[in-house]
Amino acid sequence: MSALIVANWKMNGSMPAIAEFVEQWQAMGSATLSGARTVICPPYPYLSEFRKTATSLELGAQDCSVQGQGAYTGEVAPAMLSELGCRWVILGHSERRQYHQETDALVALKVANAKAAGLATIVCVGEHLAQREAGNHKAVVESQLAGSLEGATPEALVIAYEPVWAIGTGVSASAEQADDMHRWIRECLSAKYGETASEIAVIYGGSVKPDTAGELFACDMIDGGLVGGASLEARSFHEIAQAASDSGRE
Ligand code: PGA
Repeated sequence: MSALIVANWKMNGSMPAIAEFVEQWQAMGSATLSGARTVICPPYPYLSEFRKTATSLELGAQDCSVQGQGAYTGEVAPAMLSELGCRWVILGHSERRQYHQETDALVALKVANAKAAGLATIVCVGEHLAQREAGNHKAVVESQLAGSLEGATPEALVIAYEPVWAIGTGVSASAEQADDMHRWIRECLSAKYGETASEIAVIYGGSVKPDTAGELFACDMIDGGLVGGASLEARSFHEIAQAASDSGRE
């Protein structure tokens, strides 16, 4: 599978910022990025603008409702995202878990709902610093996987390993730490899905920057990246996508 690079803009951006990003992105071109799929996940109101102007980027959302439609003020149904051209949705991001009390069980329901609407799901897992320091990081991630993937099938499924202590802190996990956890995630997925687990990409997130991307993506177990801060600028996102494309995945 080719590398997967996903921009998570979180609650950032504006119409002028998008115009600037897209102009720069188009100028750099995607001809050299043939080894990577690049996905942009802006806030909901900007999805249409990206769809219109940045045709070389696939489109994704940062979350979706657990409901299909109806009286759920403020929610966005996965079918609406599909209709707007989204192919992807990020689910269970640690900021959703932390600020919106999302549980593994809720994430599992969202995964099912999103898949039913034809979206590919990027399910986030990752430990807090105290859990790593206590040596519990693998158990935490194993339990998040078990809960968040309850009932999920391996098609159209991506796992993003995002250690919470690395998100937005400028401190990325080392390539060894990330590779080691990705290996563990693969073991957990194989135990659950058998051979079909090889269809599932496992990508890394947490302070991915142009200067760390090459080392991370050179790891066998790392199939791409989920990029927050460094995705807001077209140049740094392009450099990260280039590193992934150059990592030589088939
Ligand atoms: P970051 O965010 O790259 O700014 O650390 C990654 C994420 O939260 O997806």
